[in-house]
Amino acid sequence: MNAAVQYQTDAIAIHPLSAHTGAEITGVDLSLPLHPTQIESIRAALLQWKVVFFREQFLSHEQHIAFARQFGDPTVGHPVFGSEAGHPEIYSISKHRKATRFDGPGLVRPWTGWHTDVTAAVNPPFASILRGVTIPPYGGDTQWTNLVTAYQKLSEPLRRFVDTLRGVHEFAAPAGVQASAEFEQAVRQTTLVSEHPLVRVHPETGEAALYVSPGFLKRIVGFTPRESQALLELLWEHVTRPEFTVRFKWEAGSVAFWDNRATAHLAPTDIFDLDFDRQLYRVTLVGDIPVGPDGVASRSIAGNPVGAAHALAVN
Ligand code: SIN
Repeated sequence: MNAAVQYQTDAIAIHPLSAHTGAEITGVDLSLPLHPTQIESIRAALLQWKVVFFREQFLSHEQHIAFARQFGDPTVGHPVFGSEAGHPEIYSISKHRKATRFDGPGLVRPWTGWHTDVTAAVNPPFASILRGVTIPPYGGDTQWTNLVTAYQKLSEPLRRFVDTLRGVHEFAAPAGVQASAEFEQAVRQTTLVSEHPLVRVHPETGEAALYVSPGFLKRIVGFTPRESQALLELLWEHVTRPEFTVRFKWEAGSVAFWDNRATAHLAPTDIFDLDFDRQLYRVTLVGDIPVGPDGVASRSIAGNPVGAAHALAVN
């Protein structure tokens, strides 16, 4: 006989952190099963604030996965770069994980490093849940931007224009950077290239988001290279405007849970000027295929949809 689930009785509270993006949630222990009303409140806060944060949640890998499962189906840790040994759902965000991918920093621009997770896939994960384990005493903050606000703050004629456009997303070295043989091999083994609308209609809220993941979006379909570069740079500069963003200071035990359909984020680079270590772990949830304002869905140019980790285990 199954023991009855003991639900938590504390009240959840939502504390917004900026005008448009990010809220901290208190009054919940993520290591325990959530009551359906807690799941509903967290999901509503996620949809409204696009990224929600929790403090002092010292989760094991198993508890992290169990928390994630209450909101969706965990994907494989990372479709190209693999997962943590023994935990196919977990991707290790270690400080030096990219050290062997590229030679040199390349051309650094204000939007460099901003991305939405795995938009090279035709069904990018709908959400990502990142938990901090080893956190530097200072430095190493992560930033998120609200792509719905960014869309709403474009002028009406430009909104109407970008509504009609589509772009090609893929894993490739940043501009001006030589990829290592290891990176090339990983990307060749699991090639992911997809065409997404530049404006994505959110499947739950119906909001339009400016879906322009700077790290993955390489060109606008049908544009000349110069046209594509000029418009994308304008849009990337726009989506990373500070007033659309929130900046999160990590502690060990912090958890960030973001809606990947409505945000882009920036991993810190100041940690490379410090000797401190930084270790986080991420679980992502299986996403649907984006749809544009015209009702046309994204399409895969190369590669398969990102599936659930449990599907991989049985096949
Ligand atoms: C990520 O891009 O998911 C990692 C963010 C971070 O390292 O803060």
